[in-house]
Amino acid sequence: MKKIKASIKGVHGYVPDYVLTNAELETMVDTNDEWITSRTGIKERRILKGENAGASLMMVKAVQGLLEKTNTNPVDIDMVICCTSTPDLVFPATANIVGTQVGAVNAFGYDIQAACSGFLYGLVTGSQFIESGRFKKVLVIGGDKMSSIIDYKDRATCIIFGDGAGAVLLEGNEEDNGLIDFWLRSDGGGEPYLHMLAGGSRKPASHETVDKKEHFVYQDGKTVFKFAVTNMAYAAEQVMKRNELKAEDVAYLIPHQANKRIIDATAKSMGIEDEDKILMNIEKYGNTTNGTIPLLLWDFENKFKKGDNLILAAFGGGFTWGAAYLKWAY
Ligand code: COA
Repeated sequence: MKKIKASIKGVHGYVPDYVLTNAELETMVDTNDEWITSRTGIKERRILKGENAGASLMMVKAVQGLLEKTNTNPVDIDMVICCTSTPDLVFPATANIVGTQVGAVNAFGYDIQAACSGFLYGLVTGSQFIESGRFKKVLVIGGDKMSSIIDYKDRATCIIFGDGAGAVLLEGNEEDNGLIDFWLRSDGGGEPYLHMLAGGSRKPASHETVDKKEHFVYQDGKTVFKFAVTNMAYAAEQVMKRNELKAEDVAYLIPHQANKRIIDATAKSMGIEDEDKILMNIEKYGNTTNGTIPLLLWDFENKFKKGDNLILAAFGGGFTWGAAYLKWAY
């Protein structure tokens, strides 16, 4: 029997309407458009407004669009994997909230928390259930409402992050298209450089944690930058080497959108010089954490051809990092 590969059968995304521009940030913190653009490549990001609007709101919209465009009945979904660092609640899982709201009544689901590498981890995890033949349809969702954990008085972080979500539908493929290989790693030694200190079991919320602003993202940008450049590039190189791929064999690099300079450096070490192959939308969304890769697939979906070799690469808090090689299936 031919081995089943797990392939993406459709992708859809959602970003909120509110656009937070560099010009508006200039009125909030001591920064300027020139600095932000040259250091990060970001021009604007989307912000989810509204009371009780959690990350699930964006995920539900992304999934509803995905089900419609792939003509999928939600009762046929077997599994919902939700990759997020900003769940609606500490528990229950956001996957349950989303699954129920989209009508995936025959599915089970859970969340994956791996910071900016979460979607990549989720894609690989969901693929195992398809490859084993256990499930036929798996939803992998990546999204974050980063604005809920950002201090808009901290110029080191507020210029970078934005809100957004995307989702893919995984199904089996017998034409050799789909996930071919992956290389994932994590290292808890990264904790001091990128984290949110309070709100977990080590430091539950208190007046003190609020006063100390410990419910916001803390980032040592320089250290994160160095690790991101080295590790994202290394992971992508490993996947290329193992599959004997040269730069010319890669149709597109789909990198986590953390910083344009990190993306450029990753592409360079992979030997990819053709800028058209390096996909970016960081200028309009910023870093949406778990949302970046599915939003990128959504924005550029029309460019991909069946059989195209795509390399996905990510780096995030933890530290977490990795790369995946997949052949586009449609
Ligand atoms: N606007 C203007 N100036 C700023 C600024 C801002 N928003 N933020 C910092 N600066 C200043 C600093 O105070 C510093 O000034 P000084 O030289 O007088 O001390 C100067 O700009 C350089 O700061 P530095 O932190 O060295 O900048 P950088 O080149 O490292 O860029 C980041 C900062 C955050 C853009 C960069 O480190 C980065 O992208 N890191 C990785 C972040 C990331 O990807 N995180 C998510 C991982 S998934």
